[in-house]
Amino acid sequence: MKKHIFSLMLVAAAAMVACSDAPHLSLQEQEAYKFADNLIEKMTLREKIGQLQQFTTRTAAITGPDGVKRDTEACIRNGEVGSFLSIRKTEEMLRLQKIAVEESRLGIPLIFGYDIIHGCRTTFPENLAVSCTWDIEAIEHSARIAAIETAAAGIHWTFSPMCDISADPRWGRVSEGAGEDPYLGSKISAAMVRGYQGEDLSADNTIAACIKHFAAYGAGQAGRDYHTVDMSEMMFRDRFLPPYRSAVESGAVTAMSSFNDFMGIPASGSKWLLHTLLREELGFTGFVVSDYNAVHEMVRHATAADGKDAACQAMNAHLNMDMVYGDYLKYGEELVKEGKVSEKRINQLCREVLAVKYRLGLFDDPYKYGRQNHDEVMYRPDNLQFAREVAAKSMVLLSNNGVLPLKEGVKIALIGPLADAPRDQIGAWPGWGQAEHSVTIRKGLEQRFGAKNVIYAKGSDFRAPIKGGIDDAVRAARKADVVLLSIGLSYTESGEATSLTEITVPEAQQALLDAVKRTGKKVVVLLGTGRAMDVRNEIEKADAVLVTWHGGTMEGPAVADLVSGDKNPSGHLTMSFPYCVGQVPVHYNNKITGRPRKGPEHDKKYLSRYMYTPNEPLFAFGYGLSYTEFEYSDLQVLTPEVSLGGVVKVSVKVKNVGKRDGEDVAQLYVRDLVAETTRPMRELKGFERLSLKAGEEKVVEFEIPTSDLAYCHRDLTTYTDAGDFLVWAGADSDAKLEGKFTIK
Ligand code: NOJ
Repeated sequence: MKKHIFSLMLVAAAAMVACSDAPHLSLQEQEAYKFADNLIEKMTLREKIGQLQQFTTRTAAITGPDGVKRDTEACIRNGEVGSFLSIRKTEEMLRLQKIAVEESRLGIPLIFGYDIIHGCRTTFPENLAVSCTWDIEAIEHSARIAAIETAAAGIHWTFSPMCDISADPRWGRVSEGAGEDPYLGSKISAAMVRGYQGEDLSADNTIAACIKHFAAYGAGQAGRDYHTVDMSEMMFRDRFLPPYRSAVESGAVTAMSSFNDFMGIPASGSKWLLHTLLREELGFTGFVVSDYNAVHEMVRHATAADGKDAACQAMNAHLNMDMVYGDYLKYGEELVKEGKVSEKRINQLCREVLAVKYRLGLFDDPYKYGRQNHDEVMYRPDNLQFAREVAAKSMVLLSNNGVLPLKEGVKIALIGPLADAPRDQIGAWPGWGQAEHSVTIRKGLEQRFGAKNVIYAKGSDFRAPIKGGIDDAVRAARKADVVLLSIGLSYTESGEATSLTEITVPEAQQALLDAVKRTGKKVVVLLGTGRAMDVRNEIEKADAVLVTWHGGTMEGPAVADLVSGDKNPSGHLTMSFPYCVGQVPVHYNNKITGRPRKGPEHDKKYLSRYMYTPNEPLFAFGYGLSYTEFEYSDLQVLTPEVSLGGVVKVSVKVKNVGKRDGEDVAQLYVRDLVAETTRPMRELKGFERLSLKAGEEKVVEFEIPTSDLAYCHRDLTTYTDAGDFLVWAGADSDAKLEGKFTIK
């Protein structure tokens, strides 16, 4: 019956589209808004506010401080909740949906959200790792696979992509992002939105994406999670805003306000962020959910007197949905009655939530997600194979004195706390991922090299020795030809609330490295981590260092693919690995100072530098080795002069001069020579992954629309200037081949 009412409303809605007064909206959006407006007319104030409230349940996954315990079913029946997050079971979501549809007065379906951030069941490497593939198509496809599994799980909405740029590896959540660069970050955020939402949001295998955390959550002071963010608007617009913007442009239908305050105002109460910038300037038309309790936390920030004040500020800032705490539901009606929040505002917030539910097709069929046969959808062999390929492409070879790839028939001592660690490899927050499906490094190597050729010893825990561990490790090493030492950080040392001030491999594991090295055997470090680290010690002592990250369900076979030489490493860093923690935040796209360390040195003292430490990270953005060598030559600026609005074209020759086939990421960097404001020394403006057979040569042509060279000016508007630019191409951010072009 209710479905019938909705169908009639749909027809009415469609008929009204033509007279819409919102020309910037797509037809689907206009249709959705009309539908929502019609429904809103029938809703009580409390029901409308209910749509703005998201709760969790007693059995849901815990992703924040304990919420107030509520009677979930009563809330649904009374129309006092519009959404739930983190429910772990499909049947539970379907059960709650049934209550919403059949037992609440208007039968409005719930929207279920979950953090599906790097795969659902088939777990891909953590996001920072995936970004090191520089493979935009693969990233989109991984999000597509995640969406298909997520929809089958019964979840409508993922809290992803995380678009926060960060250059501070003390912050644990760098594992969830795409690294330090806004250009690459923008390509990745857009790809993920496309992957999740597909062509048709109402299909039963696409899900709503969520742009998070708006805004600048990755710039918390001193790398401490949830900490204050303060920076110039110019810096924000140039370096932090682009990935959020491109996710909006790709049509993401939801966004999440961040925990942090931003230039003095908690993001969840910032009208400038959530309305002026996000909606009026960037053109976002979906709904915004707060982060977990972030509305109420304005009381802790001491910018709201109490929960009621916090709800009032958030509603008036244009924040649609209150995640967990419940201030919206508790105070919403009072605020309207007292005239502090207008009913018009409530209607607007509600219509944006209902419109997304409508666009997902939930009014048409509230149960269409979760009905699929899980056995057919989850962990499909082709998807697992794809996850293996992505994991292999994500791993970054930092050093190698020739020990890799291993020779056939070699006897391996596999040692370390990450060697056989199914839970760690799926990362800090795997969502619906299951450790029991992980194929560990041990398993992967045994499959590839034969079980009898792999001698395993754990050797140590992450931060403490284990009894007899070192002895076992040394014994294993002595019996083998080579040691693969799988060390680094555990899954509990990555992700939310895991800030660190030391980013070296913990001492207990360093002792393990020292002990196996003393046996005289060659040692390959397989570094498992969700963040960039200070790896001076490992680089100095090991014969090779391969960053394997927390590589997801198929990490083990991917490691075997690389160390055996079946595949050639091709990952390139998207976050600089610092020389030491004292340098951070360290990133390649620094601004030029008035006293640059490099350049005409009249004076050796008064320069922008450290006394005893280099300015540069140990491994810069873009860096990554393979088992072959690529030679870059013949950079040609094909368009030395371009008019504003035109396209700059640059080509470079890349040759595989080694003996193995391989893949590399050709990168293009630009510097604006004189600008109205200070500009970065280099900015990535193009890249291409290429596959070259041994001896093969290819000319890569980059095209840079002049609009990609826009920057924020003194009046805070962003546009491109005419002028001279330097350009470099090569295999990392230190590329040496240089050219010049002029924009007229
Ligand atoms: C807090 C995290 O900051 C956010 O990323 C996540 O989506 C929510 N918790 C919900 O789990």
